[in-house]
Amino acid sequence: MKLNLQLGVSSSATQIEGGDYSHNWNDWFQKGHIKDGSNPARAADHLNRWKEDIDIMAELGIRVYRLGIEWARLEPAPGGYNKDAAEWYRQLLTYMKSKDIIPLLTIHHFTNPMWFEEMGGFTQPANIPVFLGFVDYVIQRFGDLVDEYVTINEPNVFAVMGYFQGVFPPGERSMRTAFRVQSVMAACHIQAYSLIHKLRREMGYTNTKVGFAHHARVFTPRFKRNLWHRLCTCLVERFFQGALTRACLLGRFVFPLKKYGKLKRGEYADFLGLNYYTRSSVSGLGDGVRKGAPVNDLGWEIYPPGIAESAGQLQGLLPRPIYITENGTCDNNDTFRSRYIYEHLKALAESGLPVERYYHWCFTDNFEWCEGESARFGLVHVDYATQKRTIKKSGRFYAAIIKNQGVTDEIYKEFIEQEAYHF
Ligand code: BGC
Repeated sequence: MKLNLQLGVSSSATQIEGGDYSHNWNDWFQKGHIKDGSNPARAADHLNRWKEDIDIMAELGIRVYRLGIEWARLEPAPGGYNKDAAEWYRQLLTYMKSKDIIPLLTIHHFTNPMWFEEMGGFTQPANIPVFLGFVDYVIQRFGDLVDEYVTINEPNVFAVMGYFQGVFPPGERSMRTAFRVQSVMAACHIQAYSLIHKLRREMGYTNTKVGFAHHARVFTPRFKRNLWHRLCTCLVERFFQGALTRACLLGRFVFPLKKYGKLKRGEYADFLGLNYYTRSSVSGLGDGVRKGAPVNDLGWEIYPPGIAESAGQLQGLLPRPIYITENGTCDNNDTFRSRYIYEHLKALAESGLPVERYYHWCFTDNFEWCEGESARFGLVHVDYATQKRTIKKSGRFYAAIIKNQGVTDEIYKEFIEQEAYHF
């Protein structure tokens, strides 16, 4: 299989850096909501091991890296910025540059400083300028080192898990609030899109790229002939992702979302960022997994064609290059990750879609939110007690396909053929 796209890796600040900061995930941990009791202050200690991590990345041949920044670390108090933290990120970005690794910088990835959380975070339209203030700061501080930005990671997952299902902080259970959060975040994305372009233009750059990372799934009725299942599929699709896609990409706010502020219809993405993991089988207003479906270690269905189906849907709304900003799986023993990657890349390669980048989630094992350290998504194993890194078999597979720009027969034989788990 030949591949005509760039292969990279993805991460987020809270999940890898470690460090004790006053943010909503630290708070969630203090309240005892992390299943295995692990503390995000440990994570993968990237704070101290960043150089080693970038060296491993370079050794694997990776040239594009999607990374995050920790808002609570950069702005510990409203308007009070931490110079040392900014310097740390500048060093990291500069080191990446010396290794020819291009950053795609995520500004918000699930984590709010507690001061922002206490103001109501993204539930309050009045807080939109607060987020934009941070965006402004980020561009002033890092705009000379970064050309490409993800404004917000997965507004739908953030809203649904935190405000409807109550499993992410702040643990609310209100559908109305979840829709409001999606609406406010969409407004934040649209305004951040324009702001980043404006600021970078003023700095003299013309090669800026901005998008958001959309978590999209394939939704399918549990029983195709069941009218109720079909109706729920339409509703869940719209509530979880369909309305948000239109709002963020095009500034079109349809039910159940609301437009906050003067937002014009337009085109608010230079690339289509897609985080794809799974398919949901719908029989009510919730999630479901098809009986007998192949699943990963967290019970999520593995459905490779869905990556191309989801990318195709985005492309149908706005024709832009596609960046798979996340795709990966929880495979604690690394027994099927290589096949997972292979099958998803194959689906993309055969789709004929303009996919330019594929950022695998994740580079090293990391703090997997509510699951803590117990769910491993990385190409590189982390022993959390010693923080020792070991490249997994799937990591070597990934390096081999980068080197060969595809999967040769030899690579297939060496890495995929013996993997027992088929999907
Ligand atoms: C999130 C990541 C997370 C991954 C696996 C995505 O929804 O953006 O932060 O680790 O899924 O659960």
